[in-house]
Amino acid sequence: MKVFTTIRDMRSACRACRTSPAITLGLVPTMGALHAGHLSLAKAAREACDFVAASIFVNPTQFGLNEDLARYPRTFEADCAALEAAGVDLLFAPTPEEMYPPNSTGTFVEVPGISDRLDGASRPGHLRGVTTVVSKLFNIVTPDRAYFGQKDAAQVAVLKAMVRDLNCGTEVVVCPIIRDTDGLALSSRNRYLTPEERRVALALPKALDCAANAARNGERRTEALLEKVQTHLTHAHGLVIDYVAAVDPSTLLPKNTADRDTLLAVAAWVGTTRLIDNLPLDTLLDEPAQ
Ligand code: PAJ
Repeated sequence: MKVFTTIRDMRSACRACRTSPAITLGLVPTMGALHAGHLSLAKAAREACDFVAASIFVNPTQFGLNEDLARYPRTFEADCAALEAAGVDLLFAPTPEEMYPPNSTGTFVEVPGISDRLDGASRPGHLRGVTTVVSKLFNIVTPDRAYFGQKDAAQVAVLKAMVRDLNCGTEVVVCPIIRDTDGLALSSRNRYLTPEERRVALALPKALDCAANAARNGERRTEALLEKVQTHLTHAHGLVIDYVAAVDPSTLLPKNTADRDTLLAVAAWVGTTRLIDNLPLDTLLDEPAQ
């Protein structure tokens, strides 16, 4: 695996891969502190593309002023070893100054509407930071496909809208949520949790499970499904709900009736850590009642 820290070198390495028009290049954007969720994206890219690029960049523009930018976990050496083992060919690990030089005019890429919903509502400016940095990565790498996790459902929605609206030549590939054996969705932020907080955090997947069972048993009123999630979360001491929502996964607008195109999404604070999780209802509605 070759590691690049400058835009110029990364761009020329990506161009050099394209020895014929048929060559495909996949990109896995990350902020590092890698876990099996990130590596599942690298694996999917490795299986589908001739060359795989990854990026590690803790993007300052997607953090709010009072958020965890300064303490965001950084495990660069271990991340490099894991990406290399996953078969990544090119790693881009720029500094903040390389990505946002002091002489920058401050251009942003913003998807209106969707960027203000779910996590965008709780974290103003967050999704604008994501679409901006991902646009920059697309311009540097020019990937045929870029791999993102379903775990960040609002991020997926804004990126798909951005790619559509701006005619980016990159296909957004969405990979399923990877969970720990106890059900907690893997997240770089899980390492902030104390053992007790981690136990409390399990209420998120369990609450979604309650709603999943109700949906399998035929409940289609999202109000009733959300009440199940809410009730479960309310009983978890030490957890503060940020949002509980049933939305269209493309627009993130609320839905009254659960169908295959419905996403149940939750965000909650456990201590000082904000965690998110979600459940797409698509195939679940075909599963047998329990
Ligand atoms: P980061 O949080 O490092 O996540 C990188 C990618 O890994 C995202 O697409 C995220 O959805 C995916 N991911 C995280 N946890 C996952 C899990 N448990 N299962 C499957 N995929 C998972 O998301 C970002 O970074 C940034 O916003 C970024 C896109 C890199 C832009 O800065």
